[in-house]
Amino acid sequence: MDTTAQRERWLAAIAAAADQAALAELDARLFGAKGEVLELVRSVTTLPKEQRPTFGKAANAVKQDVEQALAARREQFAQQSLQRELSASDFDPTEPGRSRPRGALHPITIVQNELVDLFTSLGFQWQDGPEVESEYFNFDALNIPGDHPARESQDTFWLTEQPGLGKNLLRTHTSPVQVRTLQRVVKQGFQPPLKVIVPGRCFRSETVDKSHEHTFYQMEGLVVDRVHGDQGISTANLIHTMKTCLRVILERDLQVRLRPGFFPFVEPGFELDVNCPFCSGKGCSVCKQSGWIEVLPCGMVHPNVLRQGGLDPEEYTGFAFGMGLQRVVMLRYGIDDIRQFMGGDMRFLQQFPEVSR
Ligand code: DAH
Repeated sequence: MDTTAQRERWLAAIAAAADQAALAELDARLFGAKGEVLELVRSVTTLPKEQRPTFGKAANAVKQDVEQALAARREQFAQQSLQRELSASDFDPTEPGRSRPRGALHPITIVQNELVDLFTSLGFQWQDGPEVESEYFNFDALNIPGDHPARESQDTFWLTEQPGLGKNLLRTHTSPVQVRTLQRVVKQGFQPPLKVIVPGRCFRSETVDKSHEHTFYQMEGLVVDRVHGDQGISTANLIHTMKTCLRVILERDLQVRLRPGFFPFVEPGFELDVNCPFCSGKGCSVCKQSGWIEVLPCGMVHPNVLRQGGLDPEEYTGFAFGMGLQRVVMLRYGIDDIRQFMGGDMRFLQQFPEVSR
């Protein structure tokens, strides 16, 4: 059998294939089941023994050449069709890709993440509580009985009463998680000290303006420990923790001061102020010329709250704080209108770094 003539015939057929489809057909004819090239190779078995080595070698060389020619022609077609696509008038490979807007973290999330990092590094644990809260945890357990004037200062979204479920509301602060947590750890066999933070969303039926929102974020903190001798958790511990926290979040060492503040669930209660970071205490429009900005209400946990949590106030003491996250974010970035946070304006939201530090 003349392998040379076969080879020439097949190579010519490959060169003559008009397009990819014709080439695929040819491929099947040559290499498919009963393919001509394979038949040629196989036909070695029909020859007398002494001719086999020479023929086998030649047939295999032909097979290789044909395979290579097929692959080269296939590549040629692929290149041609790419060229055709590239030169089509509506395709410009130099045009930059369409940019997809990337998501970014909300500034409140950025600051919350930083605070959570800081407090967990100080040994605090993250606690969650429900946004739909009972009247008991939101008020009564926090030493705010039904007729207490403090209830009026927190304009509450009450929920329609469901038979058997008591009175529910949208929590007006994260403080209810204080007693929830105490009750839970006492049930589990309390192993002091307890250090928790509770970041969360809160709601009040406020008229919205520059500094009031109906939906806002707080981060509650609670530290409780057993009294050893006459040593318990003290105001000094509270001040130190708060100063550390503000230094990290506001990225500078600011002077702080405590003023008495009234909250039924702490005794004594304080308002913690920082020296205005915008004017360094000289007086400006942000601090209303006072040189100080109120950032953080706090205090020593009221004995009644400890009792509601299942602890004996003779044996345990603690401090608590309730940070308004928006307020801290406003101070940190110099934002003067609280409505920006929930406003959904992309121009505002796109100003913040994509990921938290
Ligand atoms: N829950 C209070 C509020 O939203 C803030 C607060 C004050 C929380 C004093 C505390 C605290 O833990 O000790 O108005």
